[in-house]
Amino acid sequence: MLSTQPLRGKTALITGGAKRLGRASALALAEAGADIAITFRNSAREARETLVDISALGVRAVALGCDVTEEKSVKEAVREAVKELGGLDILVNNAANYETVEFEEITVKQWDAIFASNARSPFLVSRAALKHLRQRKGKIINMGSLGGILPWTTHAHYCSSKAAAHMLTRVMAKALAPEIAVNAVAPGMIDLGEKAAKPFFRRMAKQTPMKRNGTGEEIAAAVRFFATAPHFITGQILVVDGGLSL
Ligand SMILES: NC(=O)c1ccc[n+]([C@@H]2O[C@H](COP(=O)([O-])OP(=O)(O)OC[C@H]3O[C@@H](n4cnc5c(N)ncnc54)[C@H](OP(=O)(O)O)[C@@H]3O)[C@@H](O)[C@H]2O)c1
Repeated sequence: MLSTQPLRGKTALITGGAKRLGRASALALAEAGADIAITFRNSAREARETLVDISALGVRAVALGCDVTEEKSVKEAVREAVKELGGLDILVNNAANYETVEFEEITVKQWDAIFASNARSPFLVSRAALKHLRQRKGKIINMGSLGGILPWTTHAHYCSSKAAAHMLTRVMAKALAPEIAVNAVAPGMIDLGEKAAKPFFRRMAKQTPMKRNGTGEEIAAAVRFFATAPHFITGQILVVDGGLSL
């Protein structure tokens, strides 16, 4: 019989895990039995709420302040997570930023900021966690995006940064084998209930073969899949988009 808690005895660090998709992934891995560390930058209140909800699932939970664009802050957060949880089996590089800007209006500052959080941070956090993940024959799961595959004209910096995160996934899968398996989840249109985005999501649902947008739980299920998958699955980008990219 398959265990309902395949991650019992394992530990997971989820960056940007206080709310939205990061929170959903943290809860999914906790439900699967893993002890959890989440990082937050501005969302301290949401991080506390998420900690309460994770703890209610009967696993250990810790929340750590961290700016994933800062090498020193990343090293401290990883060190603290390992100290609190006693080791690291799974890293989910979830923290990122999204921004809509016309191509000719993107500033150097905007370009660099998006690359720092979306492409450089998964590298920085993974590198800081390497030693610990190697010890446990662990896993890295990067959050990519449909925007890393399709060219969205008002998101040149975001799309390019997520394409970089996809390639980083493939490079790390090869470079860090055989100890560490590295994969990415690339969400499509995920409706997290923002009121202002309702008309946009209605339009997107019509264009999507599955005739709806995705949910946070569906993305978290893909993260859980990689977290519990055989180690032989590595270097893969799993697009979760209801067929929108087809
Ligand atoms: N939502 C979607 O439809 C969608 C679609 C495609 C891909 N994705 C990807 O899936 C992941 C999660 O999506 P989401 O919409 O839930 O993300 P989000 O709300 O835009 O961001 C997640 C978290 O990232 C953290 N973060 C941003 N910059 C940071 C920094 N410099 N240092 C530390 N933390 C930082 C924020 O933490 P604080 O709030 O604590 O500051 C934020 O809560 C992201 O990688 C995103 O690109 C999402």
